[in-house]
Amino acid sequence: MVTRERVQELLDKYVSTEWLKLHMRESEVIMRKLAKHFEEDENLWGLSGLLHDIDFDYVNKDPERHVVEFDKILEMENLKIGEDIPEEMYHAIKAHYEENPAIEEKRESDLDYALSAAENISGFLVACALVQPDKRIKSVGVESVLKKLKKKDFAKAVSRELIYDIEKTGMSLEELVSIALESLDEISEEIGL
Ligand SMILES: [Fe+2]
Repeated sequence: MVTRERVQELLDKYVSTEWLKLHMRESEVIMRKLAKHFEEDENLWGLSGLLHDIDFDYVNKDPERHVVEFDKILEMENLKIGEDIPEEMYHAIKAHYEENPAIEEKRESDLDYALSAAENISGFLVACALVQPDKRIKSVGVESVLKKLKKKDFAKAVSRELIYDIEKTGMSLEELVSIALESLDEISEEIGL
């Protein structure tokens, strides 16, 4: 499997948008903690989070090419699926955008559901922090997040469905929110929240 250093190199090479770099880092820390919860491979889950949107700047944020071009980057970087990129990591990254008709992979494993839920809850929690008076993640409580999830006009762009799908893994929504808050709090300085 690729090392974290190698994935960081890829990020430095292909991703220049600041919020996107932060988004992938946030997804990584949440995925590491989720892996611990599920007693899965923390590095595999974490790197799936860190790598999942690697092609977004490369495709100029074109939704039709997003995740499709992930394969192109792997090819250019000589990264082999099943070796450098484990099959389950590849599947989760492709399926995290199964809404794209060009993507065949469908979310089905715990890793698939966790990745989609993690990357969506991360954006949602950032939005929750930004409306706190001190704009800090530590000021965000689980209960208030659960309430805000029900408010359709709050952080409209975030898919609730993909967050709620965490329950397909057997984990509760409350647990996901709590783990994600704890994860982001650990890197609060790094993400400036
Ligand atoms: Fe993402």
